[in-house]
Amino acid sequence: MRDLPFVQDPNLLSGFEHAEDAGVYKISDDLALVQTVDFFTPTVDDPFTFGQIAAVNALNDIYAMGAKPLTAMNIVCFPIKTMDKNIMREVLRGGLDKMREAGTLLIGGHSVEDDEIKYGLSVTGIVHPDKVLFNHGAKVGDKLVLTKPLGTGIISTAIKVEEASDEQIKQVIKAMSGLNKKASELMVEGGDVHACTDITGFGFLGHACEMIEGGDVGLRVNSEAVPVFEGVRELMETGFIPGGLYRNKDFRINQVIKQNTCPDWLFDLLFDPQTAGGLFFSLSGDKAKNIVEKMRATGIGDAAIVGEVVKDHPGKIFVF
Ligand code: CO
Ligand code: CO
Repeated sequence: MRDLPFVQDPNLLSGFEHAEDAGVYKISDDLALVQTVDFFTPTVDDPFTFGQIAAVNALNDIYAMGAKPLTAMNIVCFPIKTMDKNIMREVLRGGLDKMREAGTLLIGGHSVEDDEIKYGLSVTGIVHPDKVLFNHGAKVGDKLVLTKPLGTGIISTAIKVEEASDEQIKQVIKAMSGLNKKASELMVEGGDVHACTDITGFGFLGHACEMIEGGDVGLRVNSEAVPVFEGVRELMETGFIPGGLYRNKDFRINQVIKQNTCPDWLFDLLFDPQTAGGLFFSLSGDKAKNIVEKMRATGIGDAAIVGEVVKDHPGKIFVF
């Protein structure tokens, strides 16, 4: 995309440059539009649950900008000639369920015939132009907070071959269909957040690398503090590893310094592609403990401080 002749506009607050979660366009001194689009093929068997997860994944990019999602449009691909229409209905019902929870109004959509189901949303949100949370801007002395456990890619891989336990399936579906709404509200309310993104396809370290790319700070990540779904280690040791994990690792390995105190399986897990993962944000060190405690008290039980921002090794992440 970089070579294409994009038109510049002083009101464009976030475009392609930094792999932001959403585009932001200022329309007045106190209002900016936040727009994102996301759709994909089913990650779970149940159509209603898939609809929920796809909608959450799209809505979460608005929350990652510190914004509020206002309206959404459906994007649907469906094999209308060969598949039961009720399946499509259930997918859409799942999406609507999450839009309702987010306080987001469905205002339209578009569907095309396709060989396989795909579903997602285009979402429009609003934010004050001075309150946009970009995925860069972390400051030395900040603490890093992650709000959901890692391992959805690994558990989803095990689910496909029916090797995940009922308990694991329940856990991971609950996480993937959970909006980052409350987490985002608490984060914004807590103040002094310098950078934020959500953890999705590039994995925890992939998105963490985006946060410091080309900047003058580095990160230190305490692998022991990173929340992980139960049983993930065993699934990894049995070989349930999605291809995307190694692609993510190859792509970013030059930016990461691993210490022996971080076990190999856990290091690999930090590259596991996540679906509808948690918020990952950098905020003043003195505010972090309070925010994490508030999150844990309101049902975001896995929220944790997982590292800090340092002036050493700029652009790189030290994992211990
Ligand atoms: Co995102
Ligand atoms: Co996205």
